[in-house]
Amino acid sequence: MKTVHTIADLRAALGTPGACAFVPTMGNLHEGHLALVRHAKRHGLPVVASIFVNRLQFAPHEDFDRYPRTLTRDSELLQGAGCDIVFAPDERELYPQPQSFKVVPDAALADILEGHFRPGFFTGVCTVVMKLFACVQPRVAVFGKKDYQQLMVIRQMTRQFALPITIEAGETSRADDGLALSSRNGYLGAAEREEAVALSRSLRALAEGFATGGQPLAQLELAAMSALAARGWQPDYLTVRRRADLLPPGSGDKAGALVVLGAARLGQTRLIDNLEF
Ligand code: PAF
Repeated sequence: MKTVHTIADLRAALGTPGACAFVPTMGNLHEGHLALVRHAKRHGLPVVASIFVNRLQFAPHEDFDRYPRTLTRDSELLQGAGCDIVFAPDERELYPQPQSFKVVPDAALADILEGHFRPGFFTGVCTVVMKLFACVQPRVAVFGKKDYQQLMVIRQMTRQFALPITIEAGETSRADDGLALSSRNGYLGAAEREEAVALSRSLRALAEGFATGGQPLAQLELAAMSALAARGWQPDYLTVRRRADLLPPGSGDKAGALVVLGAARLGQTRLIDNLEF
């Protein structure tokens, strides 16, 4: 496995454009990222993983400064998973000038849910992903379903700009108790880590409540948020949406085409999760 830090070295290592599979990450890797690398490897193309903590997608009060930078360990893990090239640029390489050109996603998809609670987040994500796509020029890129809305926004961006890249979705990896793996789980103390599984359990209960019928969705969502709040969480949203556009389901939308999504803060740590049903 080769590690490169500049776009010039990346291009030299890649050779023919459009002939690799790509997994973008912010590092501090866990089994979920490695599963995406193994997914990417199915294509039989060289696999490139990027490691870049993208300032543009963090609000000033968020965890950009304390986001763990663990390149040595990440590189060992990527090598073990069969990655071929690690692209780990520093900020001056990817943003040599302040990034004044931005990719602003469709508000209907990007200003709801995560975008509502993290204004500008998806503009930061789209801008860096577009730039990484320009650097790596992959044929395939793999994004985790754990960041469900991000996956949808990137799919839409790729379609609307007619980028010659196939976006594939990797399933969410979970710990034995059901907690979705996330780099931010490392912020949790021992007691918080035990409690953290309550988010996926609440989402499952909400999905089951909706599928059973009988109670208005708004009531079920409110009850799910209140139950989490009573356990000491600060929920941003727990909600059932259509998989197609993340809008609230209408009377014709049934299980099989839905996703339940949630975001909530436990102590200082904001966790997100979702389940398709
Ligand atoms: O999902 C992530 O880790 C990031 O949002 C991404 C896609 C690498 C862009 O910085």
